[in-house]
Amino acid sequence: MEMIQELYQEIIIDHSNCPRNEGKIERPTHIAEGYNATCGDEVIISLLVENGIIEDIKFLAQGCSISRASGSMLTEKIRGMSPSEALEFSENLRKILSYNALETSDKNEMGDLTALLGIKQFPMRIKCATLAWHTFENALKNID
Ligand code: FES
Repeated sequence: MEMIQELYQEIIIDHSNCPRNEGKIERPTHIAEGYNATCGDEVIISLLVENGIIEDIKFLAQGCSISRASGSMLTEKIRGMSPSEALEFSENLRKILSYNALETSDKNEMGDLTALLGIKQFPMRIKCATLAWHTFENALKNID
């Protein structure tokens, strides 16, 4: 295995085994539940938006290591963004994971999320990586 792939795998395993911001916000302003129809795995994303900022975000995932890692990375990346900024980032990331080539400038913004790019080689796992992001977008748009 190439060194970069090993690093990516380590990042995913780390986020999956020690997920950041796991749980549910007690009084969320936004919440949504999503599931992957192919495997039945579920994720819940809850948010607290105050003063035009995503002050808090948590996820609960009952699923594979990729979906858990993706949810963990999502919460780290999104906290502190404005809802419109976060929505744009999320939609762009889903496009990158699903179809588009990655621009160099995008890579700089992605941090740990770059580890998810290896998933593109396994089309069956793309939904695992995008489930939390899709659910996050639904939460922000108040779609459940
Ligand atoms: Fe179900 Fe990955 S196998 S979300």
